Amino acid sequence: MIAILILLQMLSSPVTDSNVIFSQEAVTKKFENPRDIDKEKKAYNFIHRAEFTHISAPYILQTTEHEITMTYAPGIELSELIENADMELLNRAVRKTALGFSELHTKTNAYKTKVAHSYNVPGIKQQPAVIHGDPHPGNLFYDEATDKLIFIDLIDMTPSLQRHIGGPLARDAVYARNYIKLQAEYSGRKKADVEKIMEIFDNHYTFPIHENAREYYNFLFYAELKHLRNV
Ligand SMILES: Nc1ncnc2c1ncn2[C@@H]1O[C@H](COP(=O)(O)OP(=O)(O)OP(=O)(O)O)[C@@H](O)[C@H]1O
Ligand SMILES: [Mg+2]
Repeated sequence: MIAILILLQMLSSPVTDSNVIFSQEAVTKKFENPRDIDKEKKAYNFIHRAEFTHISAPYILQTTEHEITMTYAPGIELSELIENADMELLNRAVRKTALGFSELHTKTNAYKTKVAHSYNVPGIKQQPAVIHGDPHPGNLFYDEATDKLIFIDLIDMTPSLQRHIGGPLARDAVYARNYIKLQAEYSGRKKADVEKIMEIFDNHYTFPIHENAREYYNFLFYAELKHLRNV
């Protein structure tokens, strides 16, 4: 079990140069590169400004050159729920995860407030869409009290230039779905229960993904996983 969680973590992020300190009131995340602090801070502020209905995030309390101190994410980490929650709660968490990613990927007004980087490419009509970028269940919390999906670890959150059906949005959604599936399988969930949560995800993630893109990102996901198993 620990091995698969480590694999999931490794697969999730190309670079992780941070570590996290938990105190009673707050969480402090350390960064080697101050530019990453700026990226993450802008992404957190974006989530709060964009008036999402399904998504929220912790609040940043303080930053220094190498640290961000933020509030605790409310609720329970999705990875914890996948392993231990009863099916009723897990179903709700997965439903909200799909709704949350749908909202992030489709809510056009959200983009106007801009995330970390904003591109202005002449001749390309900029389409509104934002991706989480590292959508594994250790970076997602489900808050039952508010029925919201809570995003953390937003260092890879970026705008996507086009909302075409095979681009970064598709990667975000396919990876989020596959992480949930894989962890549920490795947690010993029954086959029928894994199928049920996948059905819930598919019924609530509404952005259209081209079948070729789905196949491509599925292939990449499992290829990366296989590679990690062999290193
Ligand atoms: N605000 C928070 N509230 C609760 N838990 C948190 C918070 N921030 C971080 N954590 C916990 O610490 C872990 C690591 O934090 P985070 O994901 O931000 O760092 P990371 O090292 O970049 O992770 P990754 O391995 O995904 O690259 C999270 O998976 C979560 O369990
Ligand atoms: Mg993380």
